[in-house]
Formats: sequence, structure tokens, C-alpha cells
Amino acid sequence: MNKPSFHRALTALCLLVALLAFGSCAKKTEARFPPLTLSDANTEALWQRIKVDASYDTWSFWPGHDGEREGQAPHGPYHRIYVNADLIAGLPSPTRTAPEGSIIVKENMNADRQVTAITLMAKIKGFNPENGDWFWARYDLEGKSNASGKVNGCINCHAGMRDNDFVIVRALDAQ
Ligand code: HEC
Repeated sequence: MNKPSFHRALTALCLLVALLAFGSCAKKTEARFPPLTLSDANTEALWQRIKVDASYDTWSFWPGHDGEREGQAPHGPYHRIYVNADLIAGLPSPTRTAPEGSIIVKENMNADRQVTAITLMAKIKGFNPENGDWFWARYDLEGKSNASGKVNGCINCHAGMRDNDFVIVRALDAQ
């Protein structure tokens, strides 16, 4: 290899290394999007937001509720719960209200700690004002949903925590 082409090869290699390094850093940074609106209140738009535009596994866990945790029926014996930056920005909330744009994603896991389903709550302004404006959804791992929207089953059970904006696992005003 003559000298100029060696230099070109070296430059290309450096660029590649820089790109790879940047790529792996960027993966850990949560991409931000504007809050979903009423026209996005459907399972396709939400799946797009949590898995396609960017993946929810770049989000934070609930503070103090990191990683794999033991859970209860009907969600399965283990779970992981991720919350987006819109929600984190609203904590602690003295009124115990998650801000517009909040999304909580729960990976439901079986006894072998394999993820079997994804359930989520997404706060969409005007979607369901009587019940905290949450859009509820349950998906399989391919993104197919068998329950979504104003799902009575989800709302009725989570309503035990109505004074915490239907969120069960953590007090929204906790410091
Ligand atoms: C019989 C009660 C019950 C029903 C029905 C239920 N959940 Fe839950 N959910 C819970 C409990 C209890 C937790 C707390 C974590 C745990 O113990 O698994 C939870 C936690 C969650 C969380 C994490 C945020 C939080 O509230 O802590 C999401 C998201 C969620 N559920 C979504 C759903 C969706 C979507 C449905 C309907 C398809 C649903 N849930 C139905 C009891 C229920």
C-alpha cells in the first residue's frame, strides 16, 4: 500500500470507529417527541412511538423501581417498568398527576423471566378526562394488541389508585 492510500484507509478506519462509538452512546440517549394527540390514540401510533421511532428500553426505570421486580396477577410474576422523560420531568408531582405526554411501559414476564406481553398507559390530553386521560393497551411481542383504549378491566383495577392518577407501583409525589 502506498502512503496516501494508507492514510486514506487509516482515516476511513478512524471515522468508522468514531461512528460506532457515537452509535453506541446515542443508543442510550432517550429520543424526545412531542406528546401524542387525540389523532394518535390508537395502538399502531403508540407501538410506532415505543418500538419503531425509538425503543422504550432507552427510557428510565421508575426511580427506585429499577430492573426486574416481582409483580402480581394479572401482569405476571415478574416485570420491568419503563417511564418516558415527559413523566420523569413531572416528578415529584404534589398533585399526584402525571403530565400530558407521559408513557409507562410494563414488560410482563413469566416465572422464567421471559417477557410475554407489553402493557402500557399513555396520557393523551382529552382522551378520557373522567379517568385520567390514559390510553391503555396490551400487546404481544410483535406489536399486535388484543386490548386497547378505554379498557374497563385495566381502569377498574387501577382505579384503586385513582388518587395517584391510576398508577399503582409508585407514589407520584414521592421525593
Ligand atoms: C386486577 C388488577 C389489574 C388489572 C386488571 C390490570 N392491572 Fe396493571 N397493574 C396492576 C398492579 C398490581 C400493578 C403494579 C405492578 C405489579 O404488581 O405487577 C400494575 C401496573 C401496571 C403498569 C405500570 C404502572 C403502574 O400502575 O404501576 C402498567 C403500565 C399497567 N399496569 C397497565 C395495565 C393495562 C394496560 C391493563 C389492561 C390491559 C392493566 N394494567 C390491567 C394491576 C392490574
